[in-house]
Amino acid sequence: MEIMNNEQLKNMFSLEGKLAIVTGGAGSLGEGVATGLALHGCDVVVTGRTKETLDKTVAEVEALGKKAMAIVCDVTKEDQVIEMVQKVKEVFGKIDILVTVAGIAKRHPAEDFPVDDFRQVIDINVTGTFIPCKIVGAVMKEQGYGKIITVSSVRAFAGHPGGYAAYGTSKGAVNLLTKQLATEWAKYNINVNSIAPTIFWTPLTQEVLEDEKLKKIFMDRIPMGRAALVQDMVGAAVFLGSSASDFITGQILYVDGGCTAG
Ligand SMILES: NC(=O)c1ccc[n+]([C@@H]2O[C@H](COP(=O)([O-])OP(=O)(O)OC[C@H]3O[C@@H](n4cnc5c(N)ncnc54)[C@H](O)[C@@H]3O)[C@@H](O)[C@H]2O)c1
Repeated sequence: MEIMNNEQLKNMFSLEGKLAIVTGGAGSLGEGVATGLALHGCDVVVTGRTKETLDKTVAEVEALGKKAMAIVCDVTKEDQVIEMVQKVKEVFGKIDILVTVAGIAKRHPAEDFPVDDFRQVIDINVTGTFIPCKIVGAVMKEQGYGKIITVSSVRAFAGHPGGYAAYGTSKGAVNLLTKQLATEWAKYNINVNSIAPTIFWTPLTQEVLEDEKLKKIFMDRIPMGRAALVQDMVGAAVFLGSSASDFITGQILYVDGGCTAG
């Protein structure tokens, strides 16, 4: 590893000239992270299950003067992820950053949890994180560098009475997958870290927002007294995608207003 000069130290958060893939790029966090990375200089490929839903993010990235591309791809289907990554390599020639944002949540009391729902959450949140990491990780190994950012949750840190048997389990697995890949791929100069947000208001958490009693339970657990905002995750993504985090790997960065501190 080369020692940075002052100019490089000053620019250590810059993503100028880099290319990121953001899975779940049409969702609330995916859109926020994609545009946040673009604001810091990055070209961005967004992936999701339907092209139309990705167009807005593409337009926003392009409006910032960066290159953007939408590729339809279900993260649970290895053949589709292989095809997507091949396309990115053809067009951009490299992959600097992968952010695995795609995910779902289903809440039921554990004793009534439909097993099909449980399997679906595990499939999308865990296998759907592993597959893009596996395929992009192989490219990064060949390149000799790369930054992978998974998306976990405070629900991976501790249990919660609100019906999170599948979701909490899936994000716990994302945490350990992050540490496992970090350990295996450190020798290839690939950093693997995770962003673990507390609750923010999106379609995924709509039912909590609409239930005043439940919402209060969530807010009472956050010392800073508010839900997260998508913008709260941008700094973490820029940091973990940039050379400012070159010696950080296998870490779970809780962006949670102190929720997991006490
Ligand atoms: N909203 C929160 O409070 C919160 C808190 C902690 C963590 N998270 C995590 O943040 C991530 C984004 O959540 P969000 O709140 O922006 O939700 P969202 O529903 O707005 O976005 C999720 C995106 O993932 C996509 N997706 C789902 N299954 C997919 C599949 N098989 N293949 C490809 N794309 C798929 C959806 O289409 C959607 O665009 C998720 O991993 C979620 O678990 C959210």
